[in-house]
Amino acid sequence: MRGAADAPPLISLQQVHRSFDARGGRRLHAVRNVDLTVQPGEVLGIIGRSGAGKSTLLRMINLLERPDQGRVQVAGQTLTDLSARELRRARSGIGMIFQQFNLLQNATVADNVALPLQLQGHWSRSRIDTRVAECLAQVGLVDKADAYPAQLSGGQKQRVAIARALAPRPAVMLCDEPTSALDAETTREVLSTLHAVNRELGVTLVIVTHELSVVLKLCQRVAVMQAGQLVEQFATSEAAQGQSALARELAALAAAHAGSPGVVAGGSTLSRRPSTSADLRAEGHARVEMPHA
Ligand SMILES: Nc1ncnc2c1ncn2[C@@H]1O[C@H](COP(=O)(O)OP(=O)(O)OP(=O)(O)O)[C@@H](O)[C@H]1O
Ligand SMILES: [Mg+2]
Repeated sequence: MRGAADAPPLISLQQVHRSFDARGGRRLHAVRNVDLTVQPGEVLGIIGRSGAGKSTLLRMINLLERPDQGRVQVAGQTLTDLSARELRRARSGIGMIFQQFNLLQNATVADNVALPLQLQGHWSRSRIDTRVAECLAQVGLVDKADAYPAQLSGGQKQRVAIARALAPRPAVMLCDEPTSALDAETTREVLSTLHAVNRELGVTLVIVTHELSVVLKLCQRVAVMQAGQLVEQFATSEAAQGQSALARELAALAAAHAGSPGVVAGGSTLSRRPSTSADLRAEGHARVEMPHA
């Protein structure tokens, strides 16, 4: 069954460590010996204050950032053991979206979505066209196929990025602050799309976010990072049992939202009611730092 706890993990990070050169000849340990597994079909949120190592950890899942120690396994393959060519193939099973969308500005929506298929080299034009249409239908943007990114809203741009990530039929989608550049209305739109990608297509999602309301609406499980370490993990519904300040803030937000419809609660629409400081900050779509975990 999808998401069953006893299934082999889809993603397994074993003692991954990543450090960088820092000023004064020192080493900055961005991610320190982290173990993390993600089950197939799961939606995992990674939270933590700015600089905690969330993006570095996420980028190690597809080896955009190569760990200097440890092992990364995705869908039964040990990515850290693969050749460059094998890794390129494995990466087609791992989609990624970013805060700033990263679309090609001088290409149409359809051409942006087609790009990963063209790069694979073995798709005919007609199969690409069919697949692009399917992916645009999934994100509700069929009518924008011939538009250019500059003609779209932020939410629409992110949905194009989601369609592009979906094109090669990934098992996993990595999302780095997917709604942080968006206002409240378009955030709802993108969260609904991601929810559908998970529920309808069975794509496993790993989402880095500083917006606790995003975690509450989308994620089944949460991992909290602090100074490069993964300090705790819990089911979103059990945030009240968490030890960190972020867990407590999440639990307070959940309590404030109790009874209002949310994506995870099974509704198709997202709650409109900003109830906490975290949500109010998101409503103002200012970039905010997390409190200390
Ligand atoms: N390429 C790099 N070179 C040097 N230092 C880096 C590099 N990438 C990240 N770091 C450092 O590693 C630490 C973790 O960075 P990371 O981007 O993973 O944090 P984050 O939790 O995603 O933060 P934010 O919420 O601000 O996006 C930070 O101190 C950052 O400055
Ligand atoms: Mg980051």
